[in-house]
Amino acid sequence: MTVHVIEESVTTSGGDTAEVDERREPVGRAVVWTAAITALGGLLFGYDTGVVSGALLFLHTSFGNVSSFDKELVTGLLLVGAAVGAFASGRLSDRIGRRPVILLTAAVFVIGVLGAAFSPELWVLIAMRFVIGLAVGSASMAVPLYISEVAPPRVRGALVSFNQLALTMGILIAFLVDYALSSSAAWRLMFGLAAIPAVLLFVGMLTQAESPVWLVTHGQMEEARSVLVRVRSRDHDVDGEIAEISALGQRTSSYRELLRPDVRKVVVIGVLLAVFQQITGINTVIYYAPTLLHQAGLGNSASLLANVGNGIVNVGMTVIAIRLIDKVGRRVLLIGGTVGMAVALFVVAATFAVSGNTLGHTAAIVAVASLAVYTGSFAIGLGPVFWLLISEIYPARIRGKSMSIATIANWGANFVVAISFLTLLNTISNAGAFFLLGFLSLIAVAYFWKKVPETKGLTLEEIEREIAQPTT
Ligand code: BGC
Repeated sequence: MTVHVIEESVTTSGGDTAEVDERREPVGRAVVWTAAITALGGLLFGYDTGVVSGALLFLHTSFGNVSSFDKELVTGLLLVGAAVGAFASGRLSDRIGRRPVILLTAAVFVIGVLGAAFSPELWVLIAMRFVIGLAVGSASMAVPLYISEVAPPRVRGALVSFNQLALTMGILIAFLVDYALSSSAAWRLMFGLAAIPAVLLFVGMLTQAESPVWLVTHGQMEEARSVLVRVRSRDHDVDGEIAEISALGQRTSSYRELLRPDVRKVVVIGVLLAVFQQITGINTVIYYAPTLLHQAGLGNSASLLANVGNGIVNVGMTVIAIRLIDKVGRRVLLIGGTVGMAVALFVVAATFAVSGNTLGHTAAIVAVASLAVYTGSFAIGLGPVFWLLISEIYPARIRGKSMSIATIANWGANFVVAISFLTLLNTISNAGAFFLLGFLSLIAVAYFWKKVPETKGLTLEEIEREIAQPTT
């Protein structure tokens, strides 16, 4: 799909007016390259969240007796670190810029994954998982933020969603690495391999410039001009874009500003999108499904296969989302995808309701297929669209802080679901738990329908004027 973007060479349609329609401008290689490099942050996000399930099985080979609580710490502290990392990088990315934050994030990734790989004691590993979490949380917001500010509006959806694609690939690679290294119990290598994309992210980012939006809002017009010349087509009205950004962007902002009624509206939308993305169960399906299916009677290798199959569906449907997101828009994918998730969850729930917690052969097939439909529906909608929308809907001067609030909400909800899902299964049964997730998906659909704006094709400045401008 990269090729599709790069080679599409559409001429500008100025007609006899001097105005350039930037929606028709060709998209340069430089900007696609920028998106690809920074999306390594997404790959690390996916890999580091995914790899732990396999590594946990072998920690005892180095540390002797590892309790369930220790395992929960190794898994869960990443989520806590991610919330902290998102908070810190929101402040920092408004203050010192997006590029230094991504560089710093890459450096923290390198330290964290190498620290985890070489942990002499279990407590070091636990601490390093928190450090990796800081980087994962920071990358999860800084990368979409940066790409969205560099990308031309016509392909912004696709380029920002490269990050989600890399993320899904990271999860899949983690599953495969875990599988490949399990016979040698090489848990250190499982963690340590992430140093490769982390170093590439750091080196790649050194070749990239600061976001033009950040430069303009910090009065660095000449630098902004030279970046825009590089990432826009030859006919682009660079000065016009700078004037448009500076007309809106004021440099100073505080968290208090997020409470102003006009801004609060979009802050709430971002937070609810974040919470819905998690409480509709994606990570329970991605990480607990194999355990659940195993308990439901599927053999070990069948559960593993279902897992890899699910990962492939996740990647494949994200590719389709990237192709569609700038054509059909965000809302269609978001609402359609979430309806698909609800339907699939109800089918899983009904399957458990009919068969009880142990599934027969046919029921197991229905459950596995429905979980794939669920994952695919997430991957074409709520997965990429959440991260994209929170990089688009906020005014430039508070974009970093607002994105970090939504990102913290996302990691917080992720954590709550992770620690409560198994209890939920035990308390209200598998059928009850999946009905609940289906019901929450329906509420999400209703909310998205009523409140989430369409941003397709608009410049960030147009979005700011139309969606988040003071109403007074
Ligand atoms: C979510 C993650 C999830 C991933 C699955 C992301 O958009 O934020 O929590 O693990 O999608 O592909």
